[in-house]
Amino acid sequence: MADSSNRPVLVIDFGAQYAQLIARRVREAQVYSEVVPHTASVAELLDKDPAAIVLSGGPSSVYEPGAPQVDPKLFDAGVPVFGICYGFQAMAGALGGTVEHTGTREYGRTELGVRQGGGLLHDELPDTHPVWMSHGDCVTKAPDGFTVTATSDGAPVAAFEDPERRFAGVQYHPEVGHSPHGQEVLRRFLHEIAGLRPQWTTSSIVDEQVARIREQVGDGKAICGLSGGVDSAVAAALVQRAIGDRLTCVFVDHGLLRAGERAQVERDFVAATGVNLVTVDARERFLTALAGVTDPEQKRKIIGREFIRVFEQAERDLKAEGDYRFLVQGTLYPDVVESGGGAGAANIKSHHNVGGLPEDLQFTLVEPLRALFKDEVRRVGTELGLPETIVQRQPFPGPGLGIRIIGEVTAERLEILRKADAIAREELTAAGLDRQIWQCPVVLLADVRSVGVQGDGRTYGHPVVLRPVSSEDAMTADWTRLPYEVLERISTRITNEVAEVNRVVLDVTSKPPGTIEWE
Ligand code: XMP
Repeated sequence: MADSSNRPVLVIDFGAQYAQLIARRVREAQVYSEVVPHTASVAELLDKDPAAIVLSGGPSSVYEPGAPQVDPKLFDAGVPVFGICYGFQAMAGALGGTVEHTGTREYGRTELGVRQGGGLLHDELPDTHPVWMSHGDCVTKAPDGFTVTATSDGAPVAAFEDPERRFAGVQYHPEVGHSPHGQEVLRRFLHEIAGLRPQWTTSSIVDEQVARIREQVGDGKAICGLSGGVDSAVAAALVQRAIGDRLTCVFVDHGLLRAGERAQVERDFVAATGVNLVTVDARERFLTALAGVTDPEQKRKIIGREFIRVFEQAERDLKAEGDYRFLVQGTLYPDVVESGGGAGAANIKSHHNVGGLPEDLQFTLVEPLRALFKDEVRRVGTELGLPETIVQRQPFPGPGLGIRIIGEVTAERLEILRKADAIAREELTAAGLDRQIWQCPVVLLADVRSVGVQGDGRTYGHPVVLRPVSSEDAMTADWTRLPYEVLERISTRITNEVAEVNRVVLDVTSKPPGTIEWE
């Protein structure tokens, strides 16, 4: 990833959950960064020609047997280094300072006292201000050459710096929102101590990726499968910007989409990008394959299998017409880091996605989002002129409404669910709640009926479930406390406008124990 303008700041991951967050914060200061494991040797780190190194926090005590250490040779390379929490202590230890287990622990919000004018990191920040701490050990003596610029009750050395050698560190976590001046402190390290220029901007990302794609694809042709989601749309738009009509996008309408989604791709995405698009209308095929199936795992298997068959047929048709050798994938940076893949490791996004591809791939992958976090992908999408409906779209499962109908999937049931779902989405958007919720599946309990009364008549209809959730990453989630007025509007409209539904119920289960989708 490194080139002359974007040499990476390497964030060394000591096993805390914070390394990716630190990398994002570095990028928010408009400096490119990558996460590397602490097992990388100094030679491997220097091979990447780093602009600076950040030692992240870690769960362990510096004294624990087997605790990851910092090789002192790292400090002889002339590369700026910033230590955070565990990384701060490991840095102090490696440079000849003292780290002790004093028995005073600090967890959570702590008052930081600025000393010695604050140095470059804390200059002109309030004399005392809150920071987020999480440590048992502490640095009691800074290494020679460092000035101590902050302390706290439990940390006699809570920040130090040696601008001459371009080294600095803090005991607290500047990357979390609970340290309100943390981003400013990180920015000062990067810009003022390390002397890096803020060059990592959305337009620089677009320029760099477009140049790379042109280099990789040459005069070849590429195919991209669109799902209607953010990642594939932005990946396709970048490749389209780079190679124009030598890209063809394939969109499979499996009939399990929500209201308006096909139009968003066929009309809005094409209008915004001018991309070549082939839509395969496979609605009948999927319905036939799903007939009589109620088991959720079996539904997923069938949908995945049919999807691959349809997509492969579309590929064969295209290959018969031209030399399509490249396949575009919207793999994101967190997938690359979590699968341990560095640059080059082919990492086909397969998990439980409908876009999962067969192993005997006859393509070279183009993955223009491999270096990017989701929020960066959205900004790139906006920069490329994609519509908000696509760029800000909430997660939606590949198997679509197929796993939100509990019971057999039929055309009629899909129509019922589509109407109810469209109403819920409309009202949530109108109430300005889209950014606050992660997603709000609407689930049709197609095999359940209950008695209702509408007008003068008795009804025997179906319930739908609203499942609004708040989450950071979908691994855990909590149910969103939606305002009663919004719930009321959704409920009234659904029962008035969707004849087959006579009850709207709210799911108030967190994850765990409940998953987000019902299936
Ligand atoms: P669960 O139901 O496991 O869902 O709590 C976690 C998140 O993943 C989404 N999801 C999927 N996304 N393909 C996808 O691309 C799938 O097959 C799939 N199944 C679940 C779900 O919507 C939630 O955001």
